[in-house]
Amino acid sequence: MKRTWESFSNKELLVSPSLLAADFSNLESEIKRIEDAGADMLHLDIMDGHFVPNISFGPPVVSAIRKKTDIFFDTHLMLTNPAKYIEPFAKAGADLITFHVECDDDPDEVIALCRKFDLKVGMVIKPKTPAEALFPYLEKIDMILVMSVEPGFGGQSFMSEVLGKCRTLRNEITARNLPILLEIDGGIDAKTVIPSAQNGVNLMVAGTSVFRHPEGADKAIELLKSAQKDLVL
Ligand code: DX5
Ligand code: ZN
Repeated sequence: MKRTWESFSNKELLVSPSLLAADFSNLESEIKRIEDAGADMLHLDIMDGHFVPNISFGPPVVSAIRKKTDIFFDTHLMLTNPAKYIEPFAKAGADLITFHVECDDDPDEVIALCRKFDLKVGMVIKPKTPAEALFPYLEKIDMILVMSVEPGFGGQSFMSEVLGKCRTLRNEITARNLPILLEIDGGIDAKTVIPSAQNGVNLMVAGTSVFRHPEGADKAIELLKSAQKDLVL
């Protein structure tokens, strides 16, 4: 059952499994598997081989899976020039597009393009980028993503040094009384979800720990969601 953007609240710990860790030869059944397990969104990692040293998939794949599911598409663009690709991803069925503040395009232009195509907008910072880089844009966006690994590959270890930035951003969201969701991406599992929630993160991207959990995706999502009790806004 599709959840709408309006149904997502900061008070709820949400899980967005990353398709990057799925079996790419069986995308339809892989998506069904995490939907049945209670995923709130689906995280789509788009890599251009330039902004990051890896290539994943593009609009044709997003468009193909859109025909098979109505789950909310949380689309993470790791692209040097996101502006050029907002329209193709919107037409392919993205619901929210998140782009890097470190990209080569003007963030205000990218935000305007997302709005033109009726998309929710997120902005993301790499592990070494300060929280303050996002401060000028907070009133204009719907979601913030903090990378807890260097973008480019799934299955990397969580960088706990980004937790302070999560707290800074959550406090800023609260101080400005904004409805922005705070998301984290990279190395999230049953253990690292706890300090993330304690530092104000309510939207958890998890690739390896959900799609490849030895006890199945149901168990993986249940474990992640049990950190609801640790969430401190
Ligand atoms: C990394 C991607 C992540 C990654 C997460 O560039 O943005 O979404 O797939 O994968 P795990 O959860 O395996 O670290
Ligand atoms: Zn991602």
